[in-house]
Order: sequence, then C-alpha cells, then structure tokens
Amino acid sequence: MDPRDAQFWARQMHEHCTLIAAALDPGSPFKKIAAGLAVSWQNPSGVKLLDQTIEFKTEVLRTAQTSWIGWLAPDFYHHVLEEAVYFRRLIADDVTSSEELAIWREILSEHAISIGAMVDPSRRSLILRGFQVGDMAKRSRNVSLASRDVERFLQSTARVPSTIPKILRDHAIAEGVHFREVVMTRAMGR
Ligand SMILES: [Fe+2]
Ligand SMILES: [Fe+2]
Repeated sequence: MDPRDAQFWARQMHEHCTLIAAALDPGSPFKKIAAGLAVSWQNPSGVKLLDQTIEFKTEVLRTAQTSWIGWLAPDFYHHVLEEAVYFRRLIADDVTSSEELAIWREILSEHAISIGAMVDPSRRSLILRGFQVGDMAKRSRNVSLASRDVERFLQSTARVPSTIPKILRDHAIAEGVHFREVVMTRAMGR
C-alpha cells in the first residue's frame, strides 16, 4: 500500500472515532469505546485496530438504525464504515482502479449531500445545491473536477448558519484533497 494512504487514513480513522465519541449520547455504552479507539488511532500499529474499528462502526450503525443514540445520522456511520472498509481493501491490495474511482464518487457525493443537509433549514437553496452537487459527483466522468465542485460547496457552507462541526467540514475537504493529490496522481502514473 502507498504509505501516503496509510498515514492519511489512520488520521481519518482517528477523526471518525473522535467525532463519534463527541456525538454519542452520554448514556451510550459506545461513547467510551469510540474515545478509546480515537486514542489508539493516534499511534496505530497493525491491522487489528482497523478490524476492531470496522466491527465497532458496524455495531454503531446497526444500533443507530433502530434507535436514537446521538446527534449524528445513521448515514454518517454508514459513510465512515465504508471508508474503513476501503482502507482495509487498500491494505489487502484488493481494489482495482475502476473500483477505486467508484468508491470515490460515492465518498464525494455523500460529503456534499450529508454535510449540506446540516445547513440551517432557512438556507434551503444551499441545502438543495448540496444534493445537486452530490448527485453530479456520483455520475461524474471527471471525478477530479467533481471533487473541486464538492470542495467549493463545502467551503460555502462555512459562511452560513448550520450544525456542521468545523472538524467535520475540514475532514471531508481533506479527503477531497487526498483524492486529487494522491489517488488521481497514482492512477495517472499507472
Ligand atoms: Fe472520513
Ligand atoms: Fe468521508
């Protein structure tokens, strides 16, 4: 695996767990586990931690689909689970270039749609724009270009009232940058 991927995704796993720990209800038994995983991801060693993280996110997603456990939507847990599975596949060297592009279309599309949905309902047109940008990213042939549109959209959500945590917007923007600078560059070199 490309060491840039290993380093990048370890940081993203840390941020996922940090966000999950912050968002879960204080009464949730998952909260402590998420915080513990966040700490472990600061100094990751071996694939076991990733497998534990995948198992944990699967469990949290399953629970969130049937009961309220915190202020993040099940859609978020699904997204971060998919990213962990993608990371696992990168480690196993089990992703073709076309599969990788398809995965990124999904990732980028979901960033625009789910973060856009956290904009204040008074800014309806911006929320709708998020759906539009997200749908375009999903169908786009030029994923690099689509990733820039998603990034511009995410930046624009910083200028309006919303419930979007800054760490979440920065996290999604960093993924788009990683896609262009590492994944696309690598694909062109193949
Ligand atoms: Fe992420
Ligand atoms: Fe993401």
